[in-house]
Amino acid sequence: MSEELELKDTDHEFAHKHLLGLTDYSKEDIQYVLEQAKYFREILDRPVPKVPTLRDKTIVNLFYEDSTRTKLSFELAQKRMGADVVNFSKGSSSVQKGESLKDTIRNISSMKIDMVVVRHKSPGVPHFLTRCVDAAIINAGDGAHEHPTQALLDMFTMQQVYPNLEGRNIAIIGDIAHSRVVRSNVIGLLKLGANVTLCGPQTMMPAHVHELGAEVSHNLEETLGWCDIAMALRIQLERQENGTELFPSIREYHQLFGITERHLEKYPDFTIMHPGPVNRGVEMDSAVADSDRSIILSQVTNGVAVRMAILYLLSGGSRV
Ligand code: CP
Repeated sequence: MSEELELKDTDHEFAHKHLLGLTDYSKEDIQYVLEQAKYFREILDRPVPKVPTLRDKTIVNLFYEDSTRTKLSFELAQKRMGADVVNFSKGSSSVQKGESLKDTIRNISSMKIDMVVVRHKSPGVPHFLTRCVDAAIINAGDGAHEHPTQALLDMFTMQQVYPNLEGRNIAIIGDIAHSRVVRSNVIGLLKLGANVTLCGPQTMMPAHVHELGAEVSHNLEETLGWCDIAMALRIQLERQENGTELFPSIREYHQLFGITERHLEKYPDFTIMHPGPVNRGVEMDSAVADSDRSIILSQVTNGVAVRMAILYLLSGGSRV
C-alpha cells in the first residue's frame, strides 16, 4: 500500500452507523463527508492510488438492480482502501430459486461481514436490512426513494465549480416522479442553502412535489436562463407502466425538455450535469453531453472519492 492519508481534523462528531438517506444527515454531516472526500479525491491522483484504511473490513455489494457507475465505483473505492470485497448479483444467486431477501442477507451476514452496499427496486429495503443484520448498511439506490451517495457526489462535483453552494441556482430537469437522485439531491442541496427548481412535464412530477421544498417549473427556457447548473435526468421507462404514457413521444419530449446545442449558445453560463446513464438525443443532445460545459465524467470520477469517504466514516473513521 502507498503513502499515508492526511485527513482533516474538525470538531464535527459524525455519529452515523448507516447511510440510508440524506434525510437522516444534517447540513454539518453532509459538509463533513464532502470535506473528507477532498482527501480521497487527492489519493485518486497519486501514482499508487491506494490506502490501507479498510484492510480489516469485509464488504458485500448487494445489487438487486442493474448498475454500472454505482456498483463499479463502490467496488473500486473498497479495493482502493484495501477491503475484502464480495459482489452479489440477483441474476446469478439463489434468489432465482426463491430465497427471500431476509434469508439472503442473514446468510451473507453469517459469513462475518462488516458493511453492506445495497441497491434494490423497493423503497425501504436498506432500512429493512438494518433490522436483519448488525453490519453497516449503505443505500446505493432504493426504488424512487433515495440515492444518497449519488447526491453527495453531485454536490461534491458542483462544489468544484462553485465552492459555496449557498444561494446558487440548481435546476433538475426531467423525470422527477421516478427519480431517487432528485429526492436525495433536493434534500442535500436545500440543506446546503442552494435554490432548487425541478423542471419537467406535469405528468413527470410526483403527486406532492411541492412538499419536497423545491420550486417547480414546466418551462425549460426560463429554467435554463435562471440556473447556474442544469442536471438532466434519465427518463426511467422501467419504472413506468407503459413506456410512453407520460408523454406522447420521445421526439416531443426532447423538443420540450431536451437540452440542445441551441440552449448552450443562448444561455452561455450554465454547467451541465447528469447522473447517468444518459439517453443521448432524449435528455440532451449528444454534443451537449460531450461539450466543455458538461462535467458528467467528473461526477463519475468524484463518485469513487465520495464513496471512499463514506466507507471510511461508516467504518469508524480510524486514522490510517
Ligand atoms: N447514477 C447511477 O446510479 O448510475 P448506475 O445506475 O449505472 O449505477
